[in-house]
Amino acid sequence: MQNTSAPFYDPMLSYEDNYEQGPFGAFSHSPESPVSPLHTSKFLNLEVNLPFGIPAGPLLNANFVKAAFTYGFDLCVYKTVRTKAHKSHPLPNVLSIHPKGKLSANLDTVLADKNFNMPISITNSFGVPSFDPDIWQPDMAEAVNAAKHGQYVIGSFQGTPGNSSTIEKDYAQAAIMVTETGAPILEANLSCPNEGANKLLCFDFAKVERLANEIKIAVPDKPLLLKLAYFANDEDILPLLKKLDGVVDGYSTINTLSAYPIDEHGQPALGKERPNGGICGDAIRWAGLDMVQRLARLREQLNHHFTIIGVGGVSSAEHYQQYRAAGADAVMSATGAMWDPNLAFEIKRTLNV
Ligand SMILES: Cc1cc2nc3c(=O)[nH]c(=O)nc-3n(C[C@H](O)[C@H](O)[C@H](O)COP(=O)(O)O)c2cc1C
Repeated sequence: MQNTSAPFYDPMLSYEDNYEQGPFGAFSHSPESPVSPLHTSKFLNLEVNLPFGIPAGPLLNANFVKAAFTYGFDLCVYKTVRTKAHKSHPLPNVLSIHPKGKLSANLDTVLADKNFNMPISITNSFGVPSFDPDIWQPDMAEAVNAAKHGQYVIGSFQGTPGNSSTIEKDYAQAAIMVTETGAPILEANLSCPNEGANKLLCFDFAKVERLANEIKIAVPDKPLLLKLAYFANDEDILPLLKKLDGVVDGYSTINTLSAYPIDEHGQPALGKERPNGGICGDAIRWAGLDMVQRLARLREQLNHHFTIIGVGGVSSAEHYQQYRAAGADAVMSATGAMWDPNLAFEIKRTLNV
């Protein structure tokens, strides 16, 4: 096992301290040998240098996004924002996890600690914090302006029960606020709890259809992506794809797989109030690839034209290529990129892009 370099998000510090002081490690200074793109690809009808980037989460603000652009991540998702301020869970927010064998999608129990070893898998538990729009809107605009040729900010957002008259309206309001920053692409995070039900929002198809339509009415002319969790079967996702054909432009998937992280004494590692946590990194790559393969197959069968962003466990050029071969139009890495700021450069060098 290899020891890791300093991540650009410091798991030992609170979310607020990371926001104020980050990014850390290599992202806090300029790259030694930047790679200039030779070719571009099409992504949602836009010219992108390499359809690779960092998904919603680790890029907390414009300082993080600027660093990621400088390090060649050409698609940068600004962390999920809300229509009103929302506090982060206290520490711990990120722990290393050590699954025995393959992590399943059925709420496994996994050992969690602070030994961040490669290949890295983590649990993350933040509760999707957001600053007030007065703070994040000008900051997101700054991130949008930092994009160089062939680079794009994707603005991720979610609705919050109680912030508007309905959750659907709050999603639409958040989409309007993100659009005001100039972000060229929208991403609605649906892999979050569905208030009043014990499943994630993306499994409530009637609600997803309503909120996607509300967003499209509010912001008709921006590409709209939906962030989805892992669906285990074709039959589970098929009705959703049919409902959303022609409404949304693509899907970003997967988010995390849920598990019970425990400490060495068998106690909930994130604290008693948070018995489960989302797992990301190496342990979930199989699920991300499976979901992308399935979506690509269904896209062909249905003759639909949505874009697929493959996410989950990417930490090398080989993983990037596996996702592209599975049918992803773009690929993103959160955990892998956090511990390897040169990942986009490595992929570009390997592919000779
Ligand atoms: C620190 C951290 C924070 C995250 N926060 C969000 C978030 O706010 N919204 C979201 O849609 N996904 C969030 N995610 C999930 C990632 O976007 C991604 O779907 C997941 O981590 C799987 O990718 P990975 O294996 O490359 O980490 C977060 C992930 C990490 C590691």
